[in-house]
Amino acid sequence: MKTWLITGCSSGFGQRLALAAAQRGDQVVATARHVKTIAEMAEPFGGRMITLPLDVTDAAAAKAAVAKAVETFGGFDVLVNNAGYGLFGAIEEGTPEEYRPMFEVNVFGLIETTRAALPVLRRSGGTIVNMSSGAGIAGGAGGGYYNAAKFAVEGMSEALAGELKPFGIRVLIVEPGPFRTDFLGRSITMAANEMPEYAASSRKHYRDTSNGNQAGDPVKAIAVILRAVDADDAPLHLPLGPIAHSIAERKLASFRRDIDAWRDITIATDFDQL
Ligand SMILES: NC(=O)c1ccc[n+]([C@@H]2O[C@H](COP(=O)([O-])OP(=O)(O)OC[C@H]3O[C@@H](n4cnc5c(N)ncnc54)[C@H](OP(=O)(O)O)[C@@H]3O)[C@@H](O)[C@H]2O)c1
Repeated sequence: MKTWLITGCSSGFGQRLALAAAQRGDQVVATARHVKTIAEMAEPFGGRMITLPLDVTDAAAAKAAVAKAVETFGGFDVLVNNAGYGLFGAIEEGTPEEYRPMFEVNVFGLIETTRAALPVLRRSGGTIVNMSSGAGIAGGAGGGYYNAAKFAVEGMSEALAGELKPFGIRVLIVEPGPFRTDFLGRSITMAANEMPEYAASSRKHYRDTSNGNQAGDPVKAIAVILRAVDADDAPLHLPLGPIAHSIAERKLASFRRDIDAWRDITIATDFDQL
């Protein structure tokens, strides 16, 4: 039996993961920014699930949630940093009032929750699941701020994986393509300062993406995440769904082309080279 601490459980992946883990008999600390939104979630599971308030931008709340998890279950061995939202629009369109709060949630919130959890996880070992995105694999016009935030999650997670290996803690970086959660509904914001200059290059894709028609089934996504958390041989990177896979394939191919194209020129930069 595993014990989970999950952020952002009011909807989408977080909600489904919390329910699926509890339904299979695990213990779950389900958290949400507004705990009222998950108040009834724990009822069917007796004492095996508790619900707590956790706005991930509040580092003290993260510490309090970790302390409550220890008090209730003696600790936890899976942390899922799931809370997040999207900000789209061209880089020139975005403003600090829009992009800084998004980084507070998607990057600094994830870091603070992780830092709060590490003293517990270092004792028990376990798994940290960080929700990145296909947008964390490759950047695309109109997604730059979200790309930057999820790239930060990727880099931090890769470093963390190395740091935590000696403690028996694994990191899984989950990189979903579009899945039918509330993400493209209430969890997406567009830069308010829409500039006609970027209509074709940066806005088109996101205008064409309609909420409710995403191909990805979040129930199937959750089944893959559960399987990866249980597996001894799960990879560090977990692109989820065919779109995320094709993003990863294209990124690998274009990266390969780039490093090969100027190889002789770019490697000739050491002091002892002519
Ligand atoms: N669905 C996709 O297509 C997709 C693709 C790639 C990556 N992702 C990632 O998957 C994760 C979950 O998203 P989702 O698809 O499940 O969308 P969702 O259904 O909209 O869920 C987003 C969750 O994040 C929570 N959240 C936002 N700000 C928060 C904060 N400050 N503190 C705590 N919780 C906060 C929301 O809580 P409130 O109810 O309080 O707003 C909500 O529970 C996100 O990190 C997202 O970037 C999703």
